[in-house]
Amino acid sequence: MGWTSVLAANALTDDERKVVKVGGRSILLFKHQGSIYAVDNLCPHLKFPMKKGKVTGEGAIVCPLHKSAFDITSGAVKTWTPWPPVVGSLLAKISPEKALPVFPTRIEEGQIWVEVA
Ligand code: FES
Repeated sequence: MGWTSVLAANALTDDERKVVKVGGRSILLFKHQGSIYAVDNLCPHLKFPMKKGKVTGEGAIVCPLHKSAFDITSGAVKTWTPWPPVVGSLLAKISPEKALPVFPTRIEEGQIWVEVA
């Protein structure tokens, strides 16, 4: 697919999140510590929307449902389904870890661009 212009650069403030559709994917955009990140809006565990996921000071986004945490730069799993206690660890055993897809971003010509392969 390549690079796609998705939003005006000033459309995303520090506390705001936006979900855009690119090539049939639902992509969550957010700003963290001055940088713009783009991640798949569906958790790789059970496809729960990540839009309300907390972004931690350590650079992870946490799924609101079972609290899996993913590195916002690489998508790598930091914690896999720790919640709720007992049930979360059972869910982790039957569902192998999967990274959260992340997408490169850039700002050009007053627009936010996302690269989707
Ligand atoms: S749906 Fe996200 S951790 Fe289970």
